[in-house]
This record gives sequence, structure tokens and C-alpha cells, in this order.
Amino acid sequence: RRTSVQDLLRSTELDREVLVKGWVRTRRGNKYVQFISVNDGSGFNSIQVVANAELFPEEKLKADGVDNGAAVAVRGKLVASQGKGQSVEIQAEEITVYGTADQESYPLQKRPKDQKGISLEELRKIAHLRPRTNTFGAVLRIRHAMSFAVHQYFNSHGYFYIHTPIITGSDAEGAGQMFRVTTLSDTKPPLNEAGAVDYSQDFFGKATNLTVSGQLEGEVAAMALGKVYTFGPTFRAENSNTARHLAEFWMIEPEVAFFDLQDNMDLAEDFLKSLVRYALEHCPDDLQFLNDQYDKELLSRLKFVVDNDFQRLTYTEAVEILKSAKQKFEFPVDWGTDLQSEHERYLVEKHFKKPVILTNYPKDIKAFYMKLDEDGRTVRAMDVLFPGIGEIIGGSQREDDLQKLQQRMQEMHVPEEDLWWYLDTRRFGSAPHAGFGLGFERLILFITGMANIRDVIPFPRFPKSAEF
Ligand code: 4AD
Ligand code: MG
Repeated sequence: RRTSVQDLLRSTELDREVLVKGWVRTRRGNKYVQFISVNDGSGFNSIQVVANAELFPEEKLKADGVDNGAAVAVRGKLVASQGKGQSVEIQAEEITVYGTADQESYPLQKRPKDQKGISLEELRKIAHLRPRTNTFGAVLRIRHAMSFAVHQYFNSHGYFYIHTPIITGSDAEGAGQMFRVTTLSDTKPPLNEAGAVDYSQDFFGKATNLTVSGQLEGEVAAMALGKVYTFGPTFRAENSNTARHLAEFWMIEPEVAFFDLQDNMDLAEDFLKSLVRYALEHCPDDLQFLNDQYDKELLSRLKFVVDNDFQRLTYTEAVEILKSAKQKFEFPVDWGTDLQSEHERYLVEKHFKKPVILTNYPKDIKAFYMKLDEDGRTVRAMDVLFPGIGEIIGGSQREDDLQKLQQRMQEMHVPEEDLWWYLDTRRFGSAPHAGFGLGFERLILFITGMANIRDVIPFPRFPKSAEF
């Protein structure tokens, strides 16, 4: 029977026969004994396999291909380890090679001491092999743990998971950043009288896109089930070549009936803290590695977020702070302009030195569905800003008054005929409600301390890149 490496490393039952299967990370040693480190992905640490020369002469191991990258099965005895850094090891009795890896061409080779290790940029070009590295193993296990923690949090707080469509006929953000979905010929599409592509002849009988957000369908569900959330892929054709943007990313969007902006902020703060706490409790080895390898302040920053209240203030107050800041900004700040990431990071990292929730933004820089404040100039928006990240959450209380919503849609050129079904929620039993969107990859960026969002998703999609 096969045992996972993590189970073996935790085992106190020694001097018994065990079988592990995994990939060789390194082989080293001398003519008397060889040490083979085997990792099966079950956790960060590898197990040390000790191969004595009587059974396994170095030449035979080499000839069989027991080398970096090879897939192997090892049968042997689990014994206490004399070596540093591990409590147990396997005294090998039988080693079977499933698949060798040519040492000349295998890209994930340890490089000689005087050379730099393979960079994250180089690894991005071999996204199909990078899960085998320590770094990406850690990131992918943390990503898994965070997905689970999201569902656990909402399930234990009485929320229902709603699946919203990926192909849609409307633009949830009204920002026009959508990828078109079509089956029409790219060389000779049918044209209408005006000479434009005639989407009434397309598969769905109208123009359709990949969704930018599941919020509007989430609102529909909240008006029936009360407390709901979505967690799915979303797509944005914004040409942002930054370390914080992807063209395909995953978003978590809770939506709650009878919630106001205050409730929404409380939920966002509690939710984020509980996710970070979960990572600290469940991913200690992976986090310790990332802390030591990339970012010595990672663990202390995570603990700080769990233990301290977020700073809450309005956009107007933030603009005052930014205007009187000594720091020179590339983009000037004035009431009514959107904040750039340099401004957000100044507030979080320099001024307050803690996560910040900014509220009540000018209506003109926010989406059509946000509830208008009494002053008629601002809306009940909230953005949660995190150190090293900037905006991690965007949300709002929603406009629940039919007339006001229709007015905002007209002002912002959002076509009513696409959203007649959404407006029905305001026609029949409308109620105050609020919600937000957490960018899953921004969360993983924060928790892993990685610098680039392209390194926290297995196959990143960004401008000019869809290789895999
Ligand atoms: O602020 P956004 O655009 O808000 C919405 O989509 C709302 N419908 C959410 C809601 O209220 N239900 O996006 C929400 C979050 C951002 O704060 C950010 O974390 C992430 O989604 N995000 C992106 N992440 C990666 N790449 C991109 N291109 C992103 N755009 C937004
Ligand atoms: Mg936003």
C-alpha cells in the first residue's frame, strides 16, 4: 500500500515496510551511499531515501535514470533519520523507475553554485513544468486551501453558493471590457443594413460575451435566498499589462439582502481576516518557505492583518490626506478623479500602515448599480486596500430604487433592454442589499507574498499570452 510523503514524515511508527511514489528532486552522495530526495506533492517537504551501495551502486542508479525529475516508486523500511532537517527516512530495498527525465534537457535542474537559480520569469515560459518547483507547489497548495476556506466560511455563516453564467448577454460593470463569444465566420460574418456584424444570426441570436462579474445574477439570487455568494472565473479585456491584472481571474462575490454599507464592510473585514487566519493555521510549511525565500516580512504581515482593525474612511477624507501628503505623486489627486495605485499604497503603507476601507466615492467613477448617497454626488461604494496589493475588494450597497437606477443607467449609457430582468428585482419586492467582489488571485498574491499575479494562477492569461 502506498503512503503519502506527508503522512510518512509525520509518522511515529518506525521500522516498518513502506511504499512511496513521487518525483526525484535531487540525488547526491558517494560510492558507499546515495541520498535521493523524493517529493510526491502531498506537502512542501520531501522524504530522504537512503540507498546503500551494496544494493544500489551509483552506476546502477544512474543507468536506471534515478535522477532529478524521474518518477519513481520506492519500497523500503521507514527508520529514524540521523541527518539534520528530518526525523525519518526510508532505507531503500527496491526502486522502480516509471519515467526518466533526460538530465541535459530537463529545465528544472539545480544550477551550479556560481550561477543564479531559474527565475520566475523563466518559469512563466514553462508554466506546464513549474508546478514541480518548491515555489509553485507551495502556491498551488495555498490556492487550494484558500478555495476551501472560502466555501467553509460562507457555508458556516449560512450563505448559499450560486453558479452564475460564464456566457452572458450583458455587461455587469458597464465598462465595455468584454471578450466577445461568437460562432460567426471571422472572414465573412453576416452584416446588417448598417454594415455592422449581425449578431441576430449568431448562436444565441444576439451578441454575447464572457462574464466580467457574477454580481447581477448574484443580486437576483439574494432577492430570493437572502445570503448568497459566487466563486467563479471572470474575464476582462482591459489592456493592463501590470503585476496586478489578469485577463482571466477568479472572483468571489457575496451578496446579501437587507445589508447596508456598514454590514458590507463588517463582512469584508471578517471574511478577509478569517481567510488569512486559515492560511496561517493550515499552510505553515508552505508559508514558512515563501517567507524565507522571497519576503522576510510575510508572516508578520499576515499576523498583523488578522490582529488589527482596518482603517475606515471616506474617499473625500482620503483625498484631503493625499493632497497634504509630502510625497510627490506621478498622478495629481483632486476630488472626483479615480485613485491610482500609488495613492492607494501611500494611504495603506505610509499613512495608516494598515488595511484601509475607503467608502463613498464620487458617483462618476463607479458603476451604475451603486446606491446614490443623499448628497447626490457620491455612492455607497467601498474598496478594501491592502499593503503591497492596493485594491483587493470592490463592493457597494446597491441602488434598490427603480427610478434612480434607471436614471443612473441612462446617464452611464447602460442599455435597459439588456438588463430588463435585473430591473425586475427592483419592480417586485425590492429591498436594500449589498455585496462585494474579492479578486481571488489578489488574495493569493497577498497571502503568498509573490510579487506578480502571473505567478499565483497555474496558467495566466494576459495580453499576448495564451500559450498553454
Ligand atoms: O472592483 P471590481 O471591478 O468589482 C466588481 O466586479 C463588482 N461586480 C464586485 C461586486 O460588488 N460583486 O472587481 C472586484 C475585485 C477587485 O477588487 C480586484 O480584487 C479583482 O476583482 N479584479 C481583478 N483581479 C485580477 N485581474 C483583474 N483584471 C481584476 N479586475 C478586478
Ligand atoms: Mg474596483
